[in-house]
Amino acid sequence: MTVIPSPTTPPGSPAPCAPEDVRRVACVGAGVIGGGWAAHFLARGYDVTAWDPAPDADVRLRRLIAAAWPALEQLGLADEASQDRLTVTARLEEAVADAQFVQESAPEKLDLKRDLLARLDAAAPAGTVIASSTSGYPMTDMQTEAADPGRLVVGHPFNPPYLIPLVEVVGGERTDPAAVEWASRFYEVAGKSVITMDREVPGFIANRLQEALWREALHMVANGEATVAEIDASITEGPGLRWAVMGPMLTFALAGGEGGMAHMLDHFGPSLKSPWTRLEAPELDRALYEAVVAGCDEAADGRSIADLVAERDRGVIDILRATGRLPRSAEEATR
Ligand SMILES: NC(=O)c1ccc[n+]([C@@H]2O[C@H](COP(=O)([O-])OP(=O)(O)OC[C@H]3O[C@@H](n4cnc5c(N)ncnc54)[C@H](O)[C@@H]3O)[C@@H](O)[C@H]2O)c1
Repeated sequence: MTVIPSPTTPPGSPAPCAPEDVRRVACVGAGVIGGGWAAHFLARGYDVTAWDPAPDADVRLRRLIAAAWPALEQLGLADEASQDRLTVTARLEEAVADAQFVQESAPEKLDLKRDLLARLDAAAPAGTVIASSTSGYPMTDMQTEAADPGRLVVGHPFNPPYLIPLVEVVGGERTDPAAVEWASRFYEVAGKSVITMDREVPGFIANRLQEALWREALHMVANGEATVAEIDASITEGPGLRWAVMGPMLTFALAGGEGGMAHMLDHFGPSLKSPWTRLEAPELDRALYEAVVAGCDEAADGRSIADLVAERDRGVIDILRATGRLPRSAEEATR
C-alpha cells in the first residue's frame, strides 16, 4: 500500500499522518451534510469531533446520527464503530485541535467559507488536510484568506454522505497536489468512491449534471408544462432506474442498438440542436417557488421528512444490494 506523505507540513511540525492511520476526524458545520459525514465517519470507527454554532446543534446532530444508524448497521459497521465516539465541542478551535482530517460543511456562502477555512487553517495541526463539502465554489475562490492554502481541497459529497458513495475531490490554484492525492486516498480508505478531478470546473461533474436536469424541471413547472409529481415520476419510473446501473453515456450507447454510441450519435446527434433544452435558469419568482414547494408537499402525501429519509435510505440500500455493490445476504457477506 502506498503511503502518501501529508502535504505542506513545515519542517519540525508533528509527524504527518498517512491516510490509513487517521483515527480522529473533525466535522465543522453539522447540518444535513456535516451530520451525514459525522454518521459516516462514526460508522467507519473514527473518533469524530464536531462543531456548529447553532444553539441546538448537539441535539440535532445526535438525532440525525441516530436516524442514520439503522441504515449504517445494514451497510455494516466497523468493529470499533460507536455513536459514543462523537464529541460535540463548544469552540471551533477545540474541535480541530487534534484532528487528522477536517471536513467543513458550513452554509454555501462564499464569504463565510473564506473566513471559516482561514480559521480552520489557523487552528488545525500543521499538515492536516481540510476539505470543504461545497456544492460548487471552486477552491481557488475559497482559499484566499488562509495562511496555508496548500492543504485546502474540495471533497464534495452527495446527500446523504453516509449512503451515497461518491466524493468529488479537487484542489484550487494554490492547493498542493499532494493534499488532493492525500484526501482522495483518505476518502477511499474511509469507504467512499472517489473521483479526483485534475482541474476546477464550477459544479464539479455530478452537480453540473444534476443542475442541468433541475433547471429544466423548474422551467417545466414555471411554464405549466409538467407538475412536480410528473417530473419525479418521469425519472423514478424511467431513466432513473437505468442510471443506478449505468451512467447516461453507457445507457445511451445501448439505445443505439448493435451500432452502440456511434449509431446513437448519427441518429440523434442532429436533435442536440432541437429546442429540447433551455440552459438559462428560470426566474425563481414567488409563483414558481410556491408551486414547487406545494408540489413536494402533495407528493409527500402526509409522510414527514424523517419518514422520507428512512424510505430513501431503505431504497438506496436495496439498489446497492441489487446491483452487487453490497452483499445480497449475510451468507454472501461472509463468503
Ligand atoms: N444538502 C445537500 O444536498 C448538499 C450536498 C452536497 C454538498 N452540500 C454542501 O454542504 C454544505 C452544507 O450544506 P447543508 O445542506 O448541510 O446545509 P445545512 O443548512 O443543513 O447545514 C449548515 C450547518 O452549518 C451551520 N453553520 C452556520 N454558520 C456556520 C459557520 N460559520 N461555521 C460552521 N457552521 C455553520 C448551521 O448551523 C447548520 O447546522 C454546503 O456547502 C453545501 O453546498 C450540500
